[in-house]
Amino acid sequence: MAAPMLGKLVLDGNADAASRTLQTHVHNHAVDGHAAMIGENAPAVGGPSDLDALLYPPPALPYEPGRVREYNLRAVDRELEIAPGIFFPAWTYNGTVPGPILRATEGDILRVNFTNAGSHPHTIHFHGIHPPRQDGVFEIVKPGDDFTYEFEARPAGFHPYHCHATPLKKHIHKGLYGSLIIDPKEPRPPAQELVMVMNGYDTDGDGGNNFYTVNGRSFYYARYPITVRRSQLVRIYLANLTEFDLINSFHLHADFFHYQPNGTGDYREYTDTVMQCQGQRGVLEIEFANAGVYMFHAHQSEFAELGWMGFFNVTD
Ligand code: CU
Ligand code: CU
Repeated sequence: MAAPMLGKLVLDGNADAASRTLQTHVHNHAVDGHAAMIGENAPAVGGPSDLDALLYPPPALPYEPGRVREYNLRAVDRELEIAPGIFFPAWTYNGTVPGPILRATEGDILRVNFTNAGSHPHTIHFHGIHPPRQDGVFEIVKPGDDFTYEFEARPAGFHPYHCHATPLKKHIHKGLYGSLIIDPKEPRPPAQELVMVMNGYDTDGDGGNNFYTVNGRSFYYARYPITVRRSQLVRIYLANLTEFDLINSFHLHADFFHYQPNGTGDYREYTDTVMQCQGQRGVLEIEFANAGVYMFHAHQSEFAELGWMGFFNVTD
């Protein structure tokens, strides 16, 4: 079905026979409010562990001089089901949107072997400090070609990577982005760590998004709430790779968190809502005061209604 109808459906609550799942959702939603749209009432695609590799980062490694961290990224075109019955013809790194979580410790040599198995020229542009010739701007990798990016991982923080071929907004919007955690040499305190990459999908080609998500599928963490323990710090690496909209945001219900922009420096904000422009990112640390089910979502209500919302299930 046409995506605008679905978008309109979710926003306005108009019935439309072509989308039973969302139609059911809208009716429940209108009657019961947000709290009802959890578990099986949430219209999300897939099983409970499908997005684990995009939510749970690989473990941090202690600083060790001279170590090489090597990753293989492959650009592939792939159609992804991003909401029930809604297929998006994505350009991906390694088959997912967002691409895989890369992780290194400050001072590691990061080596990324990039192969372009897609249908268009691509690159990988990393945010961070590195020689300009490793920046993914001048070396356009044609379909069938490859390129190796290699540089020292710095500064410590949380950084996006994305394609920088033109037209840029198309290459980003199609799905060629992901995130890189660079751990400080002096490790952060132990925590339950999560990665959340906010994005959107323009499914009708009009230059505006019809669906919004974290980690690629609308309403996924409403369907499958993220379980964390109250006894241990929760750390979220949050990035915004939403194309077309100027900002996106993260709002936590019923508690506050400390927010460190970029995951660098000493500045911390104590808040329950942060906003990020495209390419911005940061690190949130939450110490939940209570056990229970906590909602989180974009504070732009439209984005929340179109898929960017979920829940934490905080257990004792
Ligand atoms: Cu590209
Ligand atoms: Cu960028």
